[in-house]
Amino acid sequence: MTRNVLLAPSLLGANPLDISGSIESLRNNYDWLHLDIMDGHFVKNLSFGPEFARALRKRYPDAFIDTHLMIDELDVILPLFMKAGVSLITIHAETESHLLHASLSRIKDAGIKTGIALCPPTQAASIKPVLELADLVLVMSVTPGFGGQKFIESSLDKVRELVSLREAYKHEYVIEIDGGINENNITKVALAGCDVIVAGSAVFNNDRPDEWLQSVKGKMKEALSNIDRTK
Ligand code: DX5
Ligand code: ZN
Repeated sequence: MTRNVLLAPSLLGANPLDISGSIESLRNNYDWLHLDIMDGHFVKNLSFGPEFARALRKRYPDAFIDTHLMIDELDVILPLFMKAGVSLITIHAETESHLLHASLSRIKDAGIKTGIALCPPTQAASIKPVLELADLVLVMSVTPGFGGQKFIESSLDKVRELVSLREAYKHEYVIEIDGGINENNITKVALAGCDVIVAGSAVFNNDRPDEWLQSVKGKMKEALSNIDRTK
């Protein structure tokens, strides 16, 4: 059966004065909503807070809210997001890395799905000892902090490495990619083994975000089924 690749529009690319309008413009052609949290320290930008996450959950009770924390001081902020009703919380391998195992356990024990994000210079092998705690591994394909940057090609090698690690150690995490995705590179990203693809500016800078999502979904499906046929 052809692998289903999920699309996760990043709300960082939405209209900041009308986020719900931006979500409505997707006309349900999305799988997850990707929520980027930035604290001005771990990355040089600020974005949404826990109250925003809580309001999003209230307005969209059935949405899968995929939360990407780009923050220092997890101790203070993580519990606020754990209480906000989000579906999955991804933390960076580079944030308080000595506490990574404990922080992932904390999220898991609260019944929330867990993710580990890797910045472009961080090797997949560096998180081998904690992969058993991950429901998702997020490969950053740009330097975290801003939308609209250029895709870093070496991210594809990291995706393939994570596919091999998953197979070798019988893990079950899904692989997500985030940053610089557009209609020209999305198929190769899917073919490399990504299960969830985040896109911000490519979705929301389009006049018809719903049509963009439909069209890339069709393209990916075709490419993946062609591969299956030749296997
Ligand atoms: C960057 C964020 C991304 C961002 C992607 O730090 O994690 O989710 O919104 O935006 P694009 O798709 O424009 O690169
Ligand atoms: Zn993100």
